[in-house]
Amino acid sequence: MVMPAREKFSRGSEAYCCCLLLLFAYDSPPSRRSREEAQYNSEFTQFPQHFQVPTVRILGIESSCDETGVALFDTESRQLSHRLFSQVEMHAAYGGVVPELASRDHIKRILPLLDEVFAESNCSLKNVEAIAVTQGPGLGGALLVGTSVAAALGAALAIPVIGIHHLEGHLLSPLLADPAPAFPFIALLVSGGHTQLMAVERVGDYRLLGETLDDAAGEAFDKTAALLGLGYPGGPALATLAATGKPDAYRLPRPMLHSGDLDFSFSGLKTAVLTLTNKLRLAGDSSFESARADVAAAFEAAIVDVLTAKCLAALAQAGMERLVVAGGVGANKRLREQLTAAAQNRGCKVFYPPINLCTDNGAMIAFAGAMRLTNGVAVSAFSGGAFSVKPRWPLAEISFR
Ligand code: KG4
Ligand code: ZN
Repeated sequence: MVMPAREKFSRGSEAYCCCLLLLFAYDSPPSRRSREEAQYNSEFTQFPQHFQVPTVRILGIESSCDETGVALFDTESRQLSHRLFSQVEMHAAYGGVVPELASRDHIKRILPLLDEVFAESNCSLKNVEAIAVTQGPGLGGALLVGTSVAAALGAALAIPVIGIHHLEGHLLSPLLADPAPAFPFIALLVSGGHTQLMAVERVGDYRLLGETLDDAAGEAFDKTAALLGLGYPGGPALATLAATGKPDAYRLPRPMLHSGDLDFSFSGLKTAVLTLTNKLRLAGDSSFESARADVAAAFEAAIVDVLTAKCLAALAQAGMERLVVAGGVGANKRLREQLTAAAQNRGCKVFYPPINLCTDNGAMIAFAGAMRLTNGVAVSAFSGGAFSVKPRWPLAEISFR
């Protein structure tokens, strides 16, 4: 599968040219582009179940939403170089992610980020032995940017390219921390689009225990932040404001706290905040202004209480002692403190990814790819320069359970 280094080296510049051509082709009028997208969806194969790579220097590419991430991970030395460009500022003007703008910005950022990663790691394309790229779920156009670059590089360098499920990247990212959790563990995935509890037995063995029935936790943070007049994305801004407020100033609902299952629902909580903020606004601008921090703190306390209770229930139900928390909301300080304390009381331990790897990044994609390859777990493989994206992709499809 892996070509001799000399041959790979001579193909390095070709790979960049292929990427540029593909990116140029993508940046075309919509009518032409939709025909091209259809052609991209070609062959999709699987490596044999026991495909084993002892040492892999693996390139990771993430472009599923509004962050362009590139990373190089060495499975032997565990050396990691990664670079990230966040489009947050660009989308803030619109109050949310604009998919077409996101795709176009990924196109601009991805090759310079690749250069930066190679410069930092003192490596070049010829040292890369495999490529992992986010294949889904996410925004179709944004995913096409990363996958087209990965497929072009893979074809030119004649190295394997594998499609990674974005959530698997988040799920395994706490294993990049020191200390890393041992398997098995419960994983709480809390991002802008997902809130799920999973039982993780080993790489590729994921069992869904519960999930949100409506809004994701990050989405609830973002929508509540908008109600409080905070910018996009609202999670970090709301958390900062909440730190100056009193969580018990208002009593907000804890949806599905006693539902007896491991599912979540956050849309009612957001509605409760809407009712409260409407009342405060009616009382005058100064009431609203002075109450904002307390509302933020009360909201954060409510959502953290629910997440904490469900995590403890999941640990008890699965008879496990380790919990990992991944996804953007995992950066929330109150959640970290409350979960860690509550788990400790039950003799359990909580693991988080390094804080800079909580939100989307290329490192978690490189790492998930490396874990699949080095553990001999079946992977989605691109072949012959062809590639496809999976904007909707249930995590269950990549679990061998
Ligand atoms: O995992 P992520 O980067 O992207 C998705 O895959 O969705 O998560 C982004 C989400 C956003 O909703 C953002 O508001 C939220 O994570 N978030 C936070 C914090 N930092 C990011 N929510 C609460 N507190 C934070 N400190
Ligand atoms: Zn994410």
